[in-house]
Amino acid sequence: MTAFERAVRPVLFRIGGGDAEKAHEFTLDRLGRLGERSRSLLRARYATDAPVEVFGVRFPNAVGLAAGVDKNGHALPAWPALGFGFVEVGTVTAKAQPGNDKPRLFRLRDSEAIINRMGFNNAGAAALAARLAALGPIGVPLGISLGKSKVTPLEEAVEDYLTSYRLLHPHADYIAVNVSSPNTPGLRTLQDKSAVADLLTALAGDTPVLVKIAPDLTEPAIAELLEVCLSHGAAGVIATNTTLAREGLAPADQPRAAEAGGLSGRPLTEKARKVVHFVHTETDGRLPIIGVGGVMSPDDASRMLDAGASLVQLYSGFIYHGPALVRGAARAAASHRARAEAETR
Ligand SMILES: Cc1cc2nc3c(=O)[nH]c(=O)nc-3n(C[C@H](O)[C@H](O)[C@H](O)COP(=O)(O)O)c2cc1C
Repeated sequence: MTAFERAVRPVLFRIGGGDAEKAHEFTLDRLGRLGERSRSLLRARYATDAPVEVFGVRFPNAVGLAAGVDKNGHALPAWPALGFGFVEVGTVTAKAQPGNDKPRLFRLRDSEAIINRMGFNNAGAAALAARLAALGPIGVPLGISLGKSKVTPLEEAVEDYLTSYRLLHPHADYIAVNVSSPNTPGLRTLQDKSAVADLLTALAGDTPVLVKIAPDLTEPAIAELLEVCLSHGAAGVIATNTTLAREGLAPADQPRAAEAGGLSGRPLTEKARKVVHFVHTETDGRLPIIGVGGVMSPDDASRMLDAGASLVQLYSGFIYHGPALVRGAARAAASHRARAEAETR
C-alpha cells in the first residue's frame, strides 16, 4: 500500500459521510491553495522527466490528467507538481450550466470504479478563458475539452462549440471535442460522421483538435468516424469516455449499478484498450491516440501503449491510487518507449 492509499484515501473517502462530490470539491480546493513551496516538494517526489512529442506538441511525460477532474481549471498549477505531463481541463460549454441534480457522482469501491452523471457542470468558456489568461502557462501542455451547452439544440451544436473554441483556443495546446459524454441528452449522436465532419471543419486552425469517443460505439461506427477524422484534419483521437455498460462490477457494488450515468475505472480497462487497439490498427497508426479508461496500474499504462496509444490519461486510477500511480505510469511509459526504440534500432 502506498502512503496515499493508507493515510490519505481513507480520509478523503469519509468526507461528507462518503459523499464523493464533496470529497472532490474539498480536494480541488486544497490543491488550488497549494503554495510554490508545497508544489516544489511534490514535484521533487512525483514529477517524471521522460519527454515525448505527439501531434507536434512536446510533453514532459506521457501521462495526463483526464477531462472532468478539473473542469474549471481550479487547481491548475498543482497537476504538474503531482507528476502529470499534461492536463486536460473541461469539459466546458459556451454557456455556464449547473449540471444534473445531486447526487450525481458515486464510488464503487470494491470494483475500483466510479459512476457519474455530472452533466457538464461548469462555469462556462468565458470564465475559463479569463482564468487561463490571468494564470499564464502552467509548465506542461494544456488540453481544453469542449462540449455542447445543454440548452443549445443539437442543430446549433457547431456554433456552440465554435463559441467556446474562439474564446479558448489561444490558451490551448490542443482542443478535445467531447462528443461522447453519456450525460448530455443527444450528445453522442454528434459522433455521427457528418456531425464530426461539420465540427472538424468549423474548428480547423492551428490548434490541434482531437475527438473523444465513447467505448460503446460499434467497430463499423468507429471506422466511419476515423475516416472523417483522417480526411478532416483531426490531430488524434481520445479513447475512451465512460461506458453505459455495467459489466465487471463486484457483487458489493451491484446495487449501485442501477445509477444512471457513465461507468469508469477498472471495469473499463479492457474495453477501452480494445477500442485503442482498433483505432490504431484501423488507421495504421496514422492518428495519434490518447488512451484513457481504466488505467489503474503502471502495467495498465504499458498495455495501453502496447495497444497503440501515444499518451495516456488518468481519472479513476488517480482517485483510487493517487500520485504514486501518476509517477509509476509515467515511468512505465518511459520504459515502454525505450524498449520500442531499442527494437527499431
Ligand atoms: C466524475 C467524472 C467526470 C467526468 N467528466 C468528463 C468531462 O467533463 N469530459 C470528458 O471528456 N470526460 C469526462 N469524464 C471521463 C474521463 O475523462 C475518462 O474518459 C473516463 O473516466 C475513463 O477514464 P478512467 O477509467 O481513468 O476514469 C469524467 C469522468 C468522471 C469519473
